[in-house]
Amino acid sequence: MLICSFSHSLIRTSVSPIGIFDSGYGGLTILRQIRRLMPEYDYMYLGDNARAPYGSRSFDVVYRYTLQSVEELFRRGCKLVILACNTASAKALRSIQQRDLVRWGTDHRVLGVIRPTVEAVGGLTRSHHVGVLATAGTVSSRSYDIELTKLCPDIHVTGLACPMWVPLVENGEYETPGADYFVRERVTEIMRADPAIDTLILACTHYPLLLPLIRKYIPEGVNVIAQGDLVAASLQDYLGRHAEMDAALSHAGTCHYLTTENAQKFSEQASLFMNERVEAEQITL
Ligand code: DGL
Repeated sequence: MLICSFSHSLIRTSVSPIGIFDSGYGGLTILRQIRRLMPEYDYMYLGDNARAPYGSRSFDVVYRYTLQSVEELFRRGCKLVILACNTASAKALRSIQQRDLVRWGTDHRVLGVIRPTVEAVGGLTRSHHVGVLATAGTVSSRSYDIELTKLCPDIHVTGLACPMWVPLVENGEYETPGADYFVRERVTEIMRADPAIDTLILACTHYPLLLPLIRKYIPEGVNVIAQGDLVAASLQDYLGRHAEMDAALSHAGTCHYLTTENAQKFSEQASLFMNERVEAEQITL
């Protein structure tokens, strides 16, 4: 018995997956592209579905929930965690990096999704008018405006919150007439607010799941930016520049899914999004 539990703990500590965190299903749109680009690593996905959406929650609550999730991933062996959630990246990333990481040592890192997105978008817009569709939390944080202006001072950013979009995705309603209505209404609204927009950022990782509807209502010639490929390329670049982190990660090509909601419900939805069989584990934070 002693030998069994010893070898079990050895196995656990030798696995160091890349942690991917989101409030719910949205981070799967990031995980999918990361795994497509780098299938050799191990991954651990955590969706805090029981407490989603985060988008309308206060700074303190998003920070607390995000920190709990990051620390859970660290306890399970992750050394690198990606906040595959714009709301968490906007409201919690900096505090976690500055206040909390010190408790875990210099070999632990947390990265967000806003910076890699902004770096790519600066070079894509010709009109220098960019639209940001996001949660209320991300829009009110002004994170995209601030980061885009740093890189490109003459850029004009219009942000619009889409409060109905995450609940539609979390409830599997992303192809219904209701979803069509709410997508058309928000897309029309942002293009009316600034008709010079030539680049529209889907600054919430849930939104690519509504992409077929979004494309239906976007005027021709407007680029729609989903973040998965950008974040995946940026992570690959990061690992290329941080050999010590790359060496600390395990490379067996596995993916383990955790959710704070019902495991079967998560597994069914995630299997659809990931186009493969997903068997999730329910945890309590
Ligand atoms: N996927 C999260 C994001 O990128 C959704 C936030 C929410 O739970 O409202 O912002």
